[in-house]
Amino acid sequence: MKYVRLGNSGVKVSQLCLGTWFLPLLPEKDEYGVYKVDRDIALKIFKKAYDEGINFFDTANVYHGALWDTDPIHVGNSERLVGEFLSTIDRESIVLSTKVRGKMAPWINGEGLSRKHIMWQIKESLKRLRTDYVDIYIIHWPDPDTPKLETLKALDDLVRQGKVHYLGISNHDAMDVLEFLELSERYGLEQFRVIQDLYNLIERYVERYKVDIAKKYGMAIMAYAPLAHGFLTGKYVDFQKKTWRVEELSRIGMYERLKDRYFKESNLKVILTLKEIADEKGVSLSQIAIAWLIKRSEEFNVPIIPVIGVSKPEHLEDNLNAINVNLTSDDMKRIEKAFT
Ligand SMILES: NC(=O)c1ccc[n+]([C@@H]2O[C@H](COP(=O)([O-])OP(=O)(O)OC[C@H]3O[C@@H](n4cnc5c(N)ncnc54)[C@H](OP(=O)(O)O)[C@@H]3O)[C@@H](O)[C@H]2O)c1
Repeated sequence: MKYVRLGNSGVKVSQLCLGTWFLPLLPEKDEYGVYKVDRDIALKIFKKAYDEGINFFDTANVYHGALWDTDPIHVGNSERLVGEFLSTIDRESIVLSTKVRGKMAPWINGEGLSRKHIMWQIKESLKRLRTDYVDIYIIHWPDPDTPKLETLKALDDLVRQGKVHYLGISNHDAMDVLEFLELSERYGLEQFRVIQDLYNLIERYVERYKVDIAKKYGMAIMAYAPLAHGFLTGKYVDFQKKTWRVEELSRIGMYERLKDRYFKESNLKVILTLKEIADEKGVSLSQIAIAWLIKRSEEFNVPIIPVIGVSKPEHLEDNLNAINVNLTSDDMKRIEKAFT
């Protein structure tokens, strides 16, 4: 495993972070019609990742492991599983991120970025995670009803109390990120060290402004959905017929809306080029897509940490090998050409 500094902080994290939004599923559903998470396989995956040198785990208070948009009944499940795993290893060997913002209860303050909600949720997350601190506490998405300074002051208090070590921001517009950063500078409050955003070969909005912001403020970028929800693994393409195919129980099979997002002629061209390069190098498409992000990190001179999601142990095995794939500048140019 390779390790990188978390922006200009001193803490070091593995080049790959393991995400816990989606986890391995059992074939049966619960009383609400939601697939159950396969606890045993999930714990095996966490342990394998840890043994392979991954010291960086990402979760969120709302994550369940089998649901895109969680409801207050299913929230907290992923954190609880991570907590179970943490109790089997030395907590200090792990860098753990979790998030706050989503709907955790039906009442009016059951969500958001108010002081009240944050102070409640950190207590709940720590209980579920079976730990007394979180390394990186991330605001999950914007809360237009709460003044930014209120959120910042509450987060700063958590850092002073030792409940949180570093702060992160996810899914906010560049202007919002800048406003937060300026406010924390002006009021001498703890700054965000991490931007966690959607970032993969075919969805590069982050490159528009966030890379520059990360560089200027010494932040790291946690790239989520590095495989575009599995699309970049090539498993949705029939390479002989050059058409789409969808496996049952796969992410795109479960969330139809992803078909509109990804099943486009232009993306097919990209996948076919990635396949050519992958075959020449004797590696998988997933490895190429993850290695591309790592190469981008080098090109921009900004730490970019792909947050990988796996639903099967073999996915982890495959994706871990991305660390050893070296994309040359010729490979990078060939990939770019697929977009023209
Ligand atoms: N801040 C945020 O708002 C936010 C949003 C999204 C994600 N995240 C974080 O980022 C993490 C990763 O996101 P993601 O799950 O969307 O990442 P992703 O890597 O783009 O997609 C993961 C999915 O791709 C498939 N897959 C992964 N490796 C594979 C392989 N080698 N071969 C075949 N299929 C493979 C699996 O799907 P199947 O189950 O279909 O096989 C897996 O669940 C999350 O767990 C979470 O921690 C954060």
